[in-house]
Amino acid sequence: MGMTRRTLLRSIGVAGGAGVMFESMRALGLAPAPQALAAPDFQEPREGDLPAHARGSTVVVLGAGIAGLTAAYELGKAGYRCVVLEAKDRIGGRNWTVRAGTTDTDLDGNTQTAQFTDDADTYLNAGPGRIPQSHITVDYCNELGVRLEPLLSSNAAALLHSDGADPQMHRTVKADHHGYVAELLSKAVDAGALDGELTADDKEALLTFLSGFGDIGGSDTGFVYEGSSRRGYAVQPGAADQEGVVLGPTPSLSETLSSGLGRYLQLDLGHDQAMTMLQPVGGMDAIVDALVDAVRGNGAEIITGAPVTELRNTDDGVEITYRGADGDTVLRGDFCIATLPPHLMAELPTNLDPAVADALRTPEIWAAGKLGLEYDRRWWELDEGIYGGITYTDLDLLSMWYPSHGFGREHGVLVGYYNEGPMAEAYGALSPAERTRRALAEGARIHGAQYRRGLRDSFSVAWDRTPHVEGGWAMWSSRGPEYELLNQAAGNVYFAGDWLSYQTAWQAGAMDSARYVVAALHERVATG
Ligand code: PHE
Repeated sequence: MGMTRRTLLRSIGVAGGAGVMFESMRALGLAPAPQALAAPDFQEPREGDLPAHARGSTVVVLGAGIAGLTAAYELGKAGYRCVVLEAKDRIGGRNWTVRAGTTDTDLDGNTQTAQFTDDADTYLNAGPGRIPQSHITVDYCNELGVRLEPLLSSNAAALLHSDGADPQMHRTVKADHHGYVAELLSKAVDAGALDGELTADDKEALLTFLSGFGDIGGSDTGFVYEGSSRRGYAVQPGAADQEGVVLGPTPSLSETLSSGLGRYLQLDLGHDQAMTMLQPVGGMDAIVDALVDAVRGNGAEIITGAPVTELRNTDDGVEITYRGADGDTVLRGDFCIATLPPHLMAELPTNLDPAVADALRTPEIWAAGKLGLEYDRRWWELDEGIYGGITYTDLDLLSMWYPSHGFGREHGVLVGYYNEGPMAEAYGALSPAERTRRALAEGARIHGAQYRRGLRDSFSVAWDRTPHVEGGWAMWSSRGPEYELLNQAAGNVYFAGDWLSYQTAWQAGAMDSARYVVAALHERVATG
């Protein structure tokens, strides 16, 4: 029936969880009808979905990030009138791609203007940078015609680094850890130490598995791990008599364990971090551009540079005041969907129950930062053979991303750091020039002196110092009554954002939350 496995699985989840909500999502094309996702219908909103009494219902959406745009997009498809108010001059929220000419001023008054090479490959995704293939973000890209390409989050040639030691290739660290785990477990099995857990067949099967898992010797040699070509080569194999020289010496078991690098090996096993990951061709903001076109195509208005200064529930709707270039304007609508960051929303003057503001202050605001470094040559590819992937370090840089696109081009932008929490706060407290200086010094401890050479330009973002955002993301230590309260309408006001989902800090969380709220709002209109 053209229903993809993913759509089917998702619809089962929706149906199991939400009873009547499911019907309303179906009516809106938000749930199982797969054609709704497969076939976009921007020009002709399906006004038939709206009961006569609700035609022309107006929804004021606060915030033109992914949650606000998705809400406006889905509402527009169903025939609602939407006005989206965005405090910044820029649309997209944290979905922000920095390229030649991008300019921004932070809360400390630092202004940066990117002097990157002006071409389609040269950009920094300052916010979201990777999309898991399981996320609804992918469905929206397909529906909106946003082209995707692989994002190489895992790369055997990328580095793992612990301060005070030389960095090692991901493949080397993995080979040694797998090797020794296989050796130890094989010895234990062979000595009968696990006989209580394993049948004779299990033992044989496990030994066979471990031999491949660790690339270790057989029973005749005592299952010893001695290193293997999986570690990489000091001299690559080649023609005629060039056998190659495997990278050595292989560290001992103790050295391997004490390196601390094993902790990075599970990162790409995470459900949301497993290969294949994806990115839009030309920059993450392709998603924003496509949503904006679709939202405007459906007749909605997006007003930028319009911070909201007051929000009131009235008997039959909402009253919203925003500050524009020509002073204050009061907008009236039937409903409001508020997608501001929770801690900023909490400070907005409203006539909502004070418990709402308290709930909005509950999640912890977590810092995140990124630095883009454009070099005049792609030395990480040309000299080190690293094509995409991520290097991890226990320095404050935390992670360094090599571009997954533009191989073979002259220039390229490296993500010099993508960090979070206290590390991001430490970098965020510096001026942009100081951030670059510090990142170059730290990066040189991993990549050597060439890290400082040939830098053309840099641009950094500290999300906690960014006006109208003021944080990387909002995290719940537990999703208790406050979370539940905010997932319900407060009068005629609904809240949406990745922080109201189980996909914190993902665009999919913002999209799913927006869809949930649109369905709830529509349910109310349809039955009201
Ligand atoms: N989505 C962000 C990322 O990919 C933040 C995040 C990291 C969210 C890890 C969940 C888990 O880096």
